[in-house]
Amino acid sequence: MADSAPPVTIALSKGRIYDDTLPLLAEAGLRPAIDPERSRRLIIPTNRPEVQLLLVRATDVPTYVQFGGADLGVSGKDVLDEHGGEGLYQPVDLGIARCRMVVAARADFDYPAAVAQRRRLRAATKFERTAREHFARKGLHVDLIKLYGSMELAPLTGLADVIVDLVDTGNTLKANNLVAVEDIAPVSARLVVNPASLRTRGATLRPLIDALGNAAAARRAS
Ligand code: ATP
Ligand code: PRP
Repeated sequence: MADSAPPVTIALSKGRIYDDTLPLLAEAGLRPAIDPERSRRLIIPTNRPEVQLLLVRATDVPTYVQFGGADLGVSGKDVLDEHGGEGLYQPVDLGIARCRMVVAARADFDYPAAVAQRRRLRAATKFERTAREHFARKGLHVDLIKLYGSMELAPLTGLADVIVDLVDTGNTLKANNLVAVEDIAPVSARLVVNPASLRTRGATLRPLIDALGNAAAARRAS
């Protein structure tokens, strides 16, 4: 690599994705040079000068990679489904940040009856595309209400009959007297790659993609 070549950039979101990707990066020989929890820096150098990390909002990871603002990224399948995946090569399911996309409702809401009667439902979610496609597959008419967080409040306040949201431990639903009434899909984080970067910077990117894929496979096998 010429000295002037810019570092390869990996876009990560600062929460679960960063925490769960760190051990995989370590297996691939990469360690952040700065702890993002102790810094406001958004570009994090690593022990390898040719690789750096970019901290972005989870929903922005596919966009950065699609338009070449980052060469690689780690993004939940939930986020990728909403983005659509255009312009992204998705070589590896990293099997991290696992959770489930579900339909949830108040414990006293009879979802099976509403479905059987083909009732028009109000569904609140930040996953509009996922929700629209799910209810369309079921042949249900829904009025979607876009929210950006704390979706559990929607059925409690009468804003919606159901929500479409992520569940892991189930603690958040339980704490708010909601129950999962339908599974939509399992969710895990995927490695996403900018195809043009792969062509032009394959010598650096391919070994990194392979190493992250191998680290993920080893974790699954253990
Ligand atoms: P932002 O950058 O928008 O603030 P964030 O820091 O919350 O987002 P992360 O926590 O790094 O982002 O990643 C969010 C991803 O983690 C989701 O897209 C989903 O794939 C996964 N996820 C969300 N909730 C859970 C959960 N309860 N358990 C496990 N994985 C989850
Ligand atoms: C996610 C999701 C649920 C919660 C589920 O929220 O939207 O609220 O996790 O996890 P649990 O089943 O283990 O309780 P997150 O913590 O990411 O907050 P946010 O949606 O407001 O970003």
